[in-house]
Amino acid sequence: MNDTTARNFTLDDAVNDIEKRYVRANPKSEVHYQAATKTMPGANTRSTLHHDPFPVVLVKGEDARISDLDGNSYVDFLGEYTAGLYGHSEPTIKQAIIDALSGGFVLGGPNPYEARLAELMVERFPAVELIRFCNSGTEANMMNISLARAVTGRPAVMALNGSYHGGLFSFAGGSPSPMNAPIEAVIGEFNEVDRCRDLIRRHANRLAALIVEPVMGGAGCIPAEDDFLHMLRHETEQHGIVLIFDEVMTSRLSPGGLHQLVGITPDLISFGKYLGGGVTFGAFGGRTDLMARLDPRQPDALVHSGTYNNNVLTMAAGIAGLSKVFTPDITERLNQTGDDFRQHLQSVADQHDAPFQIMGRGSMICIHPQREPIKTFADTATSSPAARKLVHLEMHLRGFYLARRGFMSLSLPLTESDLNSFAEAFEAVVTEHGQVLAAH
Ligand SMILES: Cc1ncc(COP(=O)(O)O)c(C=O)c1O
Repeated sequence: MNDTTARNFTLDDAVNDIEKRYVRANPKSEVHYQAATKTMPGANTRSTLHHDPFPVVLVKGEDARISDLDGNSYVDFLGEYTAGLYGHSEPTIKQAIIDALSGGFVLGGPNPYEARLAELMVERFPAVELIRFCNSGTEANMMNISLARAVTGRPAVMALNGSYHGGLFSFAGGSPSPMNAPIEAVIGEFNEVDRCRDLIRRHANRLAALIVEPVMGGAGCIPAEDDFLHMLRHETEQHGIVLIFDEVMTSRLSPGGLHQLVGITPDLISFGKYLGGGVTFGAFGGRTDLMARLDPRQPDALVHSGTYNNNVLTMAAGIAGLSKVFTPDITERLNQTGDDFRQHLQSVADQHDAPFQIMGRGSMICIHPQREPIKTFADTATSSPAARKLVHLEMHLRGFYLARRGFMSLSLPLTESDLNSFAEAFEAVVTEHGQVLAAH
């Protein structure tokens, strides 16, 4: 037993100790945080970014490095919750944004960029025949859901427990958010094939759509099992229910998205995050007959508007990223790196008999401080918040940036040496705190 484990007798002691060190390392961020509470609730404009005692204020990013107000720097393993795929200074994307900016912005009409990005996405994602742009993944999901309800004339939508489709349609935390849009929701258990099949059949004539994250990102990178997704496709097809894949995060997991990887054609797909090259982005698309209902040449066309849907900065950055940087072979390489990295972290934990499950698929990864296997959202309940906090703050103070809940997504500028350094730091945390983590 080394000095720290002797001193940190319980998990709470260990957490108190690391929190004090975190506060000491970040005095300017703390002052900034306190001042910002006067004008924003909890100094926050994006709930996901809050954690106690306060988050550090980020002031600069380059490649896969970021630094904060107190001058601490980090290797960025969060990757802006998958939106930061390209890192913080990708030169091709930067140039594309500068060029678009020089050509003038907020022009107020169609521009040459949007059709090109549409073309690239239709070529890339097999289930997408027609596409439209919006400003966020939240919007993309709400549009897909509304489109399905309008076309089918049915009221309800089936979602899976633990899933996050944006702040207006969230089942994170194991129940529907009180902030959800007032849409009747039928909630099934992720990866529970028989129970979900029964539920779909029972509610079939009320269900406009079924929406699923093929890897539940926010819930802790829990992959849907292939037979679960195939069952959803089969049943929704049988009952005329629109199957929506929320690929806001997962579209990065293969050149043609997760749906290509598992060989399933959903009716509609929601996109977001990295596909805007790091600028505000959302898109939704899929089957021609569904999307064509939005064709404004039709007298009964459904309306989808949005002032910034085709903003030139996003469109130009998205085109540069998809056509010149995140090419199919680079996509495959990044995800292979993610699979290897996840296995490496798991083997580090296993070698020390430490209680960890490293979940995910490809470049989406989540560290869960628990021994029990994870298949559904409920399975993550055995990870204690204190253990998550300990791992997060320990890795943070060692110079690695990730989410409190253990979420990480790999970005292109991360190097092999970055991954090895992370694994070494993780091993140090596991050895230092193995006993208190195992005992909690
Ligand atoms: C699966 C999924 N859907 C939707 C969203 C919402 O996207 P946005 O934050 O762009 O509104 C997110 C965001 O994390 C997500 O992970």
